[in-house]
Amino acid sequence: MGGNRKNPGTRICNFSFLIVFCWALPLFCSASSSISQGQSIKDGETLISDGEIFELGFFSLGNPSSRYVGIRYYKISDPSVIWVANRENPISDKSGVLEFRSDGNLVVLDGNGTTVWSTNASAATNSTARLNDEGSLILSRRGDASMVYWQSFDDAADTFLPGMKVEVSDEIGENRFLSSWKSESDPSAGGYSMGVDPRGSLQIVIWEGSERRWRSGHWNKQIFIGVPNMPTTYAYGFKLSDENGKSYFTYKPWNPSDKLRFRIRWDGYEEQLKWAEEKSQWDVIQSHPNKTNQCEFYNKCGRFGVCSASDESSSICSCMRGFQPRNLDQWTGGNWSEGCSRKTLLQCQRNSTNGTVASDEKDGFEAIRCAKLPDFADLVVTVPGESCEEKCLENCACTAYAIVQGIGCMMWTEDLIDVEKFTRGGNTLHIRVAHSDLGSKNKLSTAVIAVISVAGALFAVIILLLLWKFKAKLKVLPTTSSISWLRGGDTSTLNAGKSTEFSTDASGSVDVYAEGNQVNRSELRLLNLGCVAAATNNFSEENKLGKGGFGTVYKGSLPGLPQIAVKRLSRRSTQGLDEFKNEISLIAKLQHRNLVRLLGCCIEGEEKMLVYEYMPNKSLDFFLFSMFSFS
Ligand SMILES: *[C@@H]1O[C@H](CO)[C@@H](O)[C@H](O)[C@H]1NC(C)=O
Ligand SMILES: *[C@@H]1O[C@H](CO)[C@@H](O)[C@H](O)[C@H]1NC(C)=O
Ligand SMILES: *[C@@H]1O[C@H](CO)[C@@H](O)[C@H](O)[C@H]1NC(C)=O
Ligand SMILES: *[C@@H]1O[C@H](CO)[C@@H](O)[C@H](O)[C@H]1NC(C)=O
Ligand SMILES: *[C@@H]1O[C@H](CO)[C@@H](O)[C@H](O)[C@H]1NC(C)=O
Ligand SMILES: *[C@@H]1O[C@H](CO)[C@@H](O)[C@H](O)[C@H]1NC(C)=O
Ligand SMILES: *[C@@H]1O[C@H](CO)[C@@H](O)[C@H](O)[C@H]1NC(C)=O
Repeated sequence: MGGNRKNPGTRICNFSFLIVFCWALPLFCSASSSISQGQSIKDGETLISDGEIFELGFFSLGNPSSRYVGIRYYKISDPSVIWVANRENPISDKSGVLEFRSDGNLVVLDGNGTTVWSTNASAATNSTARLNDEGSLILSRRGDASMVYWQSFDDAADTFLPGMKVEVSDEIGENRFLSSWKSESDPSAGGYSMGVDPRGSLQIVIWEGSERRWRSGHWNKQIFIGVPNMPTTYAYGFKLSDENGKSYFTYKPWNPSDKLRFRIRWDGYEEQLKWAEEKSQWDVIQSHPNKTNQCEFYNKCGRFGVCSASDESSSICSCMRGFQPRNLDQWTGGNWSEGCSRKTLLQCQRNSTNGTVASDEKDGFEAIRCAKLPDFADLVVTVPGESCEEKCLENCACTAYAIVQGIGCMMWTEDLIDVEKFTRGGNTLHIRVAHSDLGSKNKLSTAVIAVISVAGALFAVIILLLLWKFKAKLKVLPTTSSISWLRGGDTSTLNAGKSTEFSTDASGSVDVYAEGNQVNRSELRLLNLGCVAAATNNFSEENKLGKGGFGTVYKGSLPGLPQIAVKRLSRRSTQGLDEFKNEISLIAKLQHRNLVRLLGCCIEGEEKMLVYEYMPNKSLDFFLFSMFSFS
């Protein structure tokens, strides 16, 4: 770790590829983090970053007659190469040298003086090269570190590190900034690449040659929505930031001292790795495509097909409702590549001239819940009063739409590709189908409708009773607050005021108590789990304030908010979703200057949380442990 820096002169070399050299010439072991014009690094010498986190030097991978110059971790037992300069041109013996050319560029020469690699910076003069603690080798003007000519982060190999910036723009389009090695021991560019595709909303993509192999799903400013089980604290570190009019995609670990890296393995799998000090090994935090889930492989079921790994039936693929296999024999034989086609043309596609009689039965939408949304989405701006659905119906080419918090109205105008059905998480996809292909929704018997109406009425009565009960009990005259549910830590949506659809079962707006005059309109935010987890350092022990019968209370902080206290209800709590919503509504109504302020809540799967303003000198226990634990 970076903490205990030693005097460079007394450094003990502990790397096998250094030892021989250090034994012979211990003087050269006083490595520095930079070299300047006129200096060089021979095979056996190294540069070490100031915090002793990375080192740069010559090494070989299995084959001793292929020597490379690269960067790897320092002082850990599995130093793992993160960057290779001459990945395409290994040096056949130990005669290589890294030095400055007279024009200021850094070059790697073999024993014959042939250049095997160069930084190729046109503007470089009188330069210096420094290895920093993020793992980047930076070539800059001597005496002026801000004048950067070249850096290894801009020329990444197979590894993405915290601190790297990937430029994202529609002009660049797909940015494949990582390429896999050819094999475990051959760092030359292999068959796989990884990068980002900014179209619609940013996605991470793995390519095999020119074909897509996996994609993360779109980024909703917090997580990638196609990876429902991504460990939230690790997903939370991604960021799209603007600098000088350019957008950059970056990653920052929640805990800055964590050693974390992403790489595209030579065999085509992306891995996120974290160094586990106690085990002395790299833990794989997540890996894609997941080998045990065939549905993660791109477009497994063809166009208009849906892949469902949890489906216990024989086939993982099925056609979307209103669609049928294009080639039934192949489909039943387990070759789904041809996908599915529409059973009935859409109203706008039908033509009386085409033989089919145009009908006035309007097209409708079939919903797929918990879906990985299709690839190649268009973002659509809707004007006030116009819904995403209307926008889709206006356009005959529109095949589906989805409303995603953090992204907006997404629309598809081509075949729907790479759709997966998750068991939880994901988003709702609305697929446009002809009226005659609409499912049971429109054919509900009146009996069913009647039952639903009665249930609804009962529910309303119960709510009213509850409300009356608490009013009587607490004798508090609340200022009425209309609660609109917004999701996400994105404070820019704070005052948007318009409720949108959520990917969880807590969807819909809950204006249960919008009664009377609307004074002091307070907005409760529906935060997402990843955001709350990150705010409380993944519900760590250090952040724990206390525990009660209903669950645990954590302290945390969210960008743009005061310090927060999170009451995480225990999973065992039998409290249902509706009761939970009622409880929140009631608390929100009771907002009073002497009470702890409720800022938001989080409902995701089994998790239910209340987020309060944290007041260090208030009797927090009273409010959090007794008063609002109705369950
Ligand atoms: C130097 O050149 C000779 C002849 O071209 C070649 O056989 C030898 O492998 C080269 N040495 C290195 C280190 O590349
Ligand atoms: C430098 O330029 C040479 C020739 O133009 C090219 O082969 C090489 O890949 C370039 N090196 C880098 C690091 O861009
Ligand atoms: C290179 O830069 C250093 C530091 O700014 C300066 O002392 C030196 O004279 C420069 N050398 C040349 C050749 O410009
Ligand atoms: C892969 O998916 C299975 C279930 O589909 C899951 O149990 C497993 O944890 C996943 N593996 C990784 C590395 O994400
Ligand atoms: C599946 O069908 C496609 C198109 O007919 C064909 O090109 C492909 O080879 C088939 N795949 C397999 C595994 O049979
Ligand atoms: C519908 O008819 C118009 C001309 O009336 C023709 O140009 C168009 O291609 C037809 N579309 C379809 C889907 O048949
Ligand atoms: C005309 O209708 C048939 C189905 O009845 C369909 O297969 C064909 O594509 C339609 N023609 C056009 C131009 O859309």
